[in-house]
Amino acid sequence: MSTFGPLTVDHELQPAHVDVVRATLPLVGANIDAITQIFYARMFDARPELLRNLFNRGNQAQGAQQRALAASIATYATHLVDPTLPHPDELLSRIGHKHASLGITADQYSIVYEHLFAAIVDVLGAETVTTEVAEAWDRVYWMMANTLVDLENRLYESAGVVAGQVFHRGIVTTRTEDPSGAVVIGVTCDWPELRNNHPGRYVSVGITLPDGARQIRQYSLISDTDAGEVTFAVKPIAASGGCPAGEVSNWIASRLRTGDLVDISIPFGDLPTAEINTGPTVLISAGIGITPMNGILEHLNNRGTRSEVVVLHADRSPACHPLRARQRQLVDGLPNAVLELWYEEPGDCADAHQGRLDLTFVDLPEGASFYVCGSSGFVQAVRSQLVASGVDQSRVHCELFAPDEWLLG
Ligand SMILES: Cc1cc2nc3c(=O)[nH]c(=O)nc-3n(C[C@H](O)[C@H](O)[C@H](O)COP(=O)(O)OP(=O)(O)OC[C@H]3O[C@@H](n4cnc5c(N)ncnc54)[C@H](O)[C@@H]3O)c2cc1C
Ligand code: HEM
Repeated sequence: MSTFGPLTVDHELQPAHVDVVRATLPLVGANIDAITQIFYARMFDARPELLRNLFNRGNQAQGAQQRALAASIATYATHLVDPTLPHPDELLSRIGHKHASLGITADQYSIVYEHLFAAIVDVLGAETVTTEVAEAWDRVYWMMANTLVDLENRLYESAGVVAGQVFHRGIVTTRTEDPSGAVVIGVTCDWPELRNNHPGRYVSVGITLPDGARQIRQYSLISDTDAGEVTFAVKPIAASGGCPAGEVSNWIASRLRTGDLVDISIPFGDLPTAEINTGPTVLISAGIGITPMNGILEHLNNRGTRSEVVVLHADRSPACHPLRARQRQLVDGLPNAVLELWYEEPGDCADAHQGRLDLTFVDLPEGASFYVCGSSGFVQAVRSQLVASGVDQSRVHCELFAPDEWLLG
């Protein structure tokens, strides 16, 4: 379910459009990778500043964003021609929050439209993209675009900002080295938009890199923003297997110091945590996926929650485990919380399980809400284990740190 209430824009295609979209979906689906690749190449050729200053060029190099965009349009169109399928409101909500955190505005949808439709004609050929076909897919695009614009405008309005004006320039006031190699950055803030913030959200951070590009990345908050501080932890990504080191994470880890200015958005994110104090909660993470969970634990500590909280974390070893000491303190600060750990290499850590996280070892509280964050493989595996053990899928809420190719589909 969307965390932002029902989406208002109409969801019905005219019958003639339904027939055309149903007939051409397999062809568009079979060619969608080629279409999205050409779309991005055309768009960045015409508007290079979008790749330098808005889109994540690491994701572009890996193809992750292309696949996410393709999967989202295919899922949306499939729902339009078969409304008995589940409504894609989770998909739209995730995209809308990501767009809002980047300050995307309605006028930019025409740029995407122009280059996406030119790419469709390039790939399928003008003889296939007849007037009827173009009209029907136009309608699909604008229905999706209008729904996203509507959601994004509601997010801006609810945050009390002009559409797209989500960035503040803040001063870094704290920087701490975590023993795991992550760095913890604190930016003091008294932004009015932080009122009514929910835990588990993320900010976008904009960094000007040595080549002058301003690259934006998201970082989950590990502080409760009621404390008047935005705090996030960044794990630098090392080069490996022919892939280069992460650009922004390494820049932050090696260059960002207290006193520096940093562009930082107000928080967004659609993990449904508004009611988190009221019932049992299970927080499941791996690696740097711990960050939204620690943010939630800070909030629960500040609210003095007495509800049952089960915290499960998996990592390669105790030394790699980010924010480990703080996680332990936060769990110890709650009267009804337990922490279970899994390490592939536990060393002399006697209170951890050896190996990968396995839910058969855990008593899961009845009626709990589940929050899961880690790599795509980890999140998929945990979600499958939960569903196999009888947990209703609607209670399982996942966050991914890469463009979402599978939760969307
Ligand atoms: C909602 C959300 C919350 C997040 N929260 C956190 C958090 O709390 N903490 C945190 O540390 N991270 C978090 N992330 C991830 C973060 O936003 C960044 O993605 C991460 O820091 C890596 O960014 P980077 O610029 O260092 O890497 P990038 O430069 O973007 O590289 C990313 C990957 O792409 C590979 N790559 C780049 N170029 C190429 C190429 N040419 N060929 C092949 N591979 C290539 C790199 O090797 C690397 O593995 C979050 C992400 C999201 C979406
Ligand atoms: C109907 C039109 C659109 C669709 C279907 C769409 C879809 C998506 C999807 C699926 C994602 C990935 C979400 C995730 O992280 O899982 C995304 C991210 C993004 N979108 Fe859109 N989008 C649309 C329009 C736009 C427009 C108009 C812009 C601005 C020019 C834009 C800019 C971005 C950017 C910058 C990202 C983040 C990229 C990254 O982190 O790699 N999008 N979009």
